[in-house]
This record gives sequence, structure tokens and C-alpha cells, in this order.
Amino acid sequence: MRGRFITFEGGEGSGKSTQARLLARSLTEDGTDLILTREPGGSPGAEEIRKLIVEGEPGRWDVEAEMLLFMAARSDHISRTILPALQAGCWVLCDRFIDSSVVYQGIVRGYGMGMVQHLNVTMFSHALPDLTLIFDIDHEIGLARAKSRGDGYMSRFDKFGPEFHARIRDAYREISATDPNRCVVVDANRGLAEIHADVVNIVMGRRS
Ligand code: TYD
Repeated sequence: MRGRFITFEGGEGSGKSTQARLLARSLTEDGTDLILTREPGGSPGAEEIRKLIVEGEPGRWDVEAEMLLFMAARSDHISRTILPALQAGCWVLCDRFIDSSVVYQGIVRGYGMGMVQHLNVTMFSHALPDLTLIFDIDHEIGLARAKSRGDGYMSRFDKFGPEFHARIRDAYREISATDPNRCVVVDANRGLAEIHADVVNIVMGRRS
């Protein structure tokens, strides 16, 4: 039996990675076999491509080359990590996936939402998520939270500036409306425990 595939999406400081870890812990305690993975990355080849994408200056890649790098990494991640796990009956929790490409490259960087959605669905129809949780947060709160982590790490995308990040939230809202059966928007302007309880309810509500 195929496992369930759940993706976590949202802007900078939305808490999606923390919530993915908390859900992984709760499900594991309940006896669910799962893997927790991420994009860009999640397989040795995709982690190599990740370095090309997230390091360096914002202008290192134009939007088309950048999108194709994400797609190449995703293809490797799906065939080497995601599909084998799902086919073995494991659940897959993935921190960012196809919707990040639609939001960041398609909408915010202007490649075209329809074009990126089309590419995702054409190339990856065999590995589409069952459920996508979109962590919605005011971008100023999100950026402040991310800064307060204080590890000093800045990816290429963090250097795109506040205007870029302000548009991410609206773009996620836009795409969640186009696929309401798969996407659930989670209010991330709350405490960790409250958000986690909400996430567990959503996931369990969709279990049957
Ligand atoms: P990362 O440090 O993993 O970001 P975060 O902690 O916010 O998840 O860096 C990955 C960056 O890549 C992030 O800013 C979002 C961006 N991204 C895209 O632009 N397109 C994509 O398809 C994916 C998967 C990520």
C-alpha cells in the first residue's frame, strides 16, 4: 500500500520546518513509518544541485535556469527518495515541494504560474502530494522570527530583499485557492503547540 505524501510550504520564518519535525515526531510515536525530507535536496544528487541554487549572489541564475535546476533536483529526489519510500508504505513529509517553484519562480520571479504548474504536473504526475499545508504568516513577523534564529546563515533567496518576501505570502494564498482539495492554509501567527495541534487535526481528519 502506498504511503501518504504531505508537503509543508510557506515563506521565510513561517515555522514550516519546525512543524514538519513536530508532526514527524507525533506520527512516529503513533507507530507510523515515515521519512522527513526537504527541497531543494533530499537525495545525494539533489543536495549537490542545492548548493548551486542557494549559494552565491541573487543574479547568479536567471529565472529559467533557476527553475530548471529546481526541477532537475526534484526529479532526482522523487526517483531516489520519495517514490521508493511511498512504495514501501512509508509516509513522506517534505519541507517544500512543487508549490515553492510555482510561488518563487512562477509568480514572484515572474516565469508564469501556469507554466510552472504545467511543468510540475507533466513531469511529476506520479508523485503529487496528497496534502499540502501552507503556513501563512505576516511577512514582517516571519522575517523577524528568521532573524532571531541568529545563525547568520543567508541563502541566495534571503538576499532578494523584503519586497520579494512580501509577495511570497500573497502568492501562496493565490495558489492555495486554485487547489483547495489538496491545500490547507494554516494560521502560523500563533504559538508552536497551538499550530501543531491544528496540523495533527488536519492530517488525522484526512486519514480515512
Ligand atoms: P532554504 O534555506 O531551504 O529555505 P527555507 O528554510 O525557507 O525552506 O532555501 C531554499 C530556498 O529555495 C527558499 O528560499 C525557497 C527557495 N525555493 C524556490 O525558490 N523554488 C523551489 O522550487 C524550492 C523547492 C525552493
